[in-house]
Amino acid sequence: MKSSKLFLLLIILKCGNCTKDQNARPECALPNNSTTVSINDILKLGENSSGDSGTTSIFPCWFNLDLSRTGQIFAQKYYGQILFANVMSLILLLSDYQTRRVLFLTQKSETPDKASKRYLATAQQIHLWYHSDILSPDWAKSVTNVRKVHSYASFYVDSLNGTESKLTATPKENPTGFQPNERLWSAFKLDLGNFDTRTRPQEFDYSAPKFKFNQYTMAMTIWAFMALPVLNPEPLGIARPSEKELQGYAHLWAVIAYAVGTDEQYIFCKDPQIDWQKCKSYLMDLFREHILPQLMNLDFEGELMIESMLSGISKIIPRYPVDALLINLLEEHLGVRATNLRRQRTLQSRVFGTIANNFVSRYSNYFRPVRWLAGKAMFAELQLASRKVFRDFGTNFTVVANKHFYS
Ligand code: HEM
Repeated sequence: MKSSKLFLLLIILKCGNCTKDQNARPECALPNNSTTVSINDILKLGENSSGDSGTTSIFPCWFNLDLSRTGQIFAQKYYGQILFANVMSLILLLSDYQTRRVLFLTQKSETPDKASKRYLATAQQIHLWYHSDILSPDWAKSVTNVRKVHSYASFYVDSLNGTESKLTATPKENPTGFQPNERLWSAFKLDLGNFDTRTRPQEFDYSAPKFKFNQYTMAMTIWAFMALPVLNPEPLGIARPSEKELQGYAHLWAVIAYAVGTDEQYIFCKDPQIDWQKCKSYLMDLFREHILPQLMNLDFEGELMIESMLSGISKIIPRYPVDALLINLLEEHLGVRATNLRRQRTLQSRVFGTIANNFVSRYSNYFRPVRWLAGKAMFAELQLASRKVFRDFGTNFTVVANKHFYS
């Protein structure tokens, strides 16, 4: 057999369900040696790598079209529940110092008003990634535009000189105009102090990154989008998902991560059908080693960015009180009783917060129509918010992919 034919055969054998894009790429015929960096190395290696991998293809060689579509179907079925998971995870992500610094410095989400627009724009791109054909031009346009937005943001934050980049908010000097609720945060911290002492984390090693927008922060952000539905689906109202569905969802996020410029070494769960246990352990370890220690040492800037995000979200999903969202995180996902947070609640929070949390984490699990209703209600709220911010309902994928950005 001629060598070119052998080469083609190799590609076909390797890429049983790949796209045309991959079949045309010679590198996809070669064995893939890109293992994921270890949990111990991810911070020090990642913070020295630029936030964009520089790849020019949308899809990686390990792209599995069928599995990604399984992930999309799962995400469509549970869109409302997954969005709620993202809110919970954002609390955790904003505890990460390096990621939060970038978001603070770009000044697009440090007040509730700004945050509601910024996260609405994000939710709409994500809606498109779940609901449109993954091989369509709209899908490609959306991820390419997000990459461009990141590139501007990265250039901007790196261009700030040393003094300016220390710009932050403290209780004494807060340029944002938004004041976090002191009582709420001291109650939250008291409750978090009851975290199981046997699993209490070590001190976190805060360091100075070479690039502010870097591969470590990319990995942390992917964690925020992927982890909770995989690790703890039931309290989100995702009732008894199949392993295949969760693997599809994890793979879909690995593909999105690649498309928006994450280096393959920093992408986990690329092949979850083979490495499922490894994928879940990686997600758990990232939480334990990198997120939890930072959550337990949250500073004023962290409180401000988290409360601003939660208050911004409650503008989109009205009547979901901020403390009820924190209670949900503590009790349903971290396994800590929120005694102090419950004590400081207002009457409104006692009534609406309790109903909302029961709706999300209890009834949705048992009653299918409730789950369906929760998803529909969430999307309807997003549509209304979209009408106010972008002057259309955000249902046309081409318009969303091209125009629905806050930046
Ligand atoms: C897989 C990883 C990521 C995904 C899927 C993602 C997704 C998005 C999306 C959809 C937007 C558009 C929202 C808008 O128009 O405001 C956006 C904007 C932005 N993202 Fe990301 N992102 C990721 C990683 C990161 C990381 C690691 C950082 C920072 C360290 C970051 C910082 C930003 C910034 C600064 C903006 C512009 C809006 C702002 O200033 O807040 N992103 N991202």
